[in-house]
Amino acid sequence: MSDHILEMRGITKTFPGVTALQDVSLAVRRGEIHAICGENGAGKSTLMKVLSGVYPAGSYDGQIVFDGEPVGFRGIQDSEARGIVIIHQELALVPYLSIAENIFLGNERRGRGGLIDWHRTNAEAAALLRSVGLHENPVTPVIQLGVGKQQLVEIAKALSKKVRLLILDEPTAALNDVDSAHLLDLMRRLRDQGITCIMISHKLGEITAVSDSTTVIRDGRTVETLDMSDGAVTQDRIIRGMVGRDLAAFYPTRSVTPGDEVLRIEDWSVRHPTQDRLVVDRASLHVRAGEVVGIAGLMGAGRTELAMSVFGRAYGRDISGRLFLRGREVRARTVAEAIANGIAYATEDRKHYGLNLIDDVRGNVSAAALDKLARRGWIDGNREIQVAEQGRRDMNIKAPTVMSVVGKLSGGNQQKVVLAKWLFTDPDVLILDEPTRGIDVGAKFEIYTIVNRLVADGKAVVLISSELPELLGMCDRIYTLAAGRVTGEMPVAEATQENLMELMTKDRDLVR
Ligand SMILES: Nc1ncnc2c1ncn2[C@@H]1O[C@H](COP(=O)(O)OP(=O)(O)OP(=O)(O)O)[C@@H](O)[C@H]1O
Ligand SMILES: [Mg+2]
Repeated sequence: MSDHILEMRGITKTFPGVTALQDVSLAVRRGEIHAICGENGAGKSTLMKVLSGVYPAGSYDGQIVFDGEPVGFRGIQDSEARGIVIIHQELALVPYLSIAENIFLGNERRGRGGLIDWHRTNAEAAALLRSVGLHENPVTPVIQLGVGKQQLVEIAKALSKKVRLLILDEPTAALNDVDSAHLLDLMRRLRDQGITCIMISHKLGEITAVSDSTTVIRDGRTVETLDMSDGAVTQDRIIRGMVGRDLAAFYPTRSVTPGDEVLRIEDWSVRHPTQDRLVVDRASLHVRAGEVVGIAGLMGAGRTELAMSVFGRAYGRDISGRLFLRGREVRARTVAEAIANGIAYATEDRKHYGLNLIDDVRGNVSAAALDKLARRGWIDGNREIQVAEQGRRDMNIKAPTVMSVVGKLSGGNQQKVVLAKWLFTDPDVLILDEPTRGIDVGAKFEIYTIVNRLVADGKAVVLISSELPELLGMCDRIYTLAAGRVTGEMPVAEATQENLMELMTKDRDLVR
């Protein structure tokens, strides 16, 4: 029996106008954790969709050998029948169904007479939950779980299908450090049970920590496969493969002296839209021109809720407190008013709020500032294209043209479209909510460079990020938020991961 459970040879996959994969090869050893990395749009997700039959046999060129046999799957059921299970980055659970129902969806546990055997369903689900280390009741609706736990439910679901090769596409992109560590541990345990894992990730620290081999893909081609076993492969080494050169630094330097105050909120409180509790509790903060101010907090601390409520009350109810722009109190009660007042908010949730996925790059980039393109009530179409082209160049968006539909771009490139859209509104204050989630290292550097350019132009930037090194690398000053309250504020020179963490967990279990 071959040492390899999977060999993909000479895979070529094209879409109209795009060659996503060109003669790509991948060899995965039995029982290893194999990481795939590469820049946004390199072709990682496409390769895994070819493997799992999302793109069926016949729609690509090349050969796939699984377990010593040539295979060509007609669809995802077909690959699952062979034990290949893919967990996509956008989790696919049904929110209002229970954990157990989700696990056995399409694969129901039935008793005599064909009725669903709930006792068996829940009992088997409970056993699977134990095996992934999730301590939840199987009848709990999935909507009540955070993303970290949902990810574990997806894995439990994969295990119920007798998985032999588990594919995880950016599994930790939306997870905090604690949940990520838990997931990586689980992958190690699965490996010990003989399950092979393929993991796509932009988090190079995780890759060096957990993977046995790493294949690097660049521009739709395989660059190399690195043996990670002896610990000699560093993050810098992987980056060199990804971008074809060394990256001098993770964060570009900046020398801007902050000027006048641009944004201030005082005693800002926000109530949950349906529940009777405060998600932001008397928060006060300010940002000056030329300054990057970070907001650190754990999941549920109220960071996004704070930002969205400031952005024209796009979130919450009973919002109270005062909002000042350049020293003048304003009421931005709608998103349109917020934009008119020079506030922009680039969302972390690009699928739901940030983009119109069925529209093209051009339409998305111009959407938040159409009035700038209007002449006597008509949109100047040529100008719109120029603006979108400019955005595409500035952000280095990988799309064949600005007429490309955004939903077909790779995840990281969609995120860049979100940024291009808000930059075009030319805001005084730009609030960036997890702007580099799912973004490759090279593109992160580009985004940081753009942030520096903005503050050099006298703009104010608020950066919400779950990655403390990113806050420490990019901010002038950092606020910490816990349970909706500002628990600390410090210049970056005084901040460390440890003291931030301490403030982020302060009054965490406070009952209000
Ligand atoms: N359905 C599609 N139609 C047209 N083009 C597509 C489609 N899916 C992917 N592409 C293109 O193929 C290329 C590879 O995309 P893919 O999603 O595989 O990248 P990726 O490596 O997963 O990137 P990311 O890290 O941003 O997720 C990109 O240029 C993308 O725009
Ligand atoms: Mg992808």
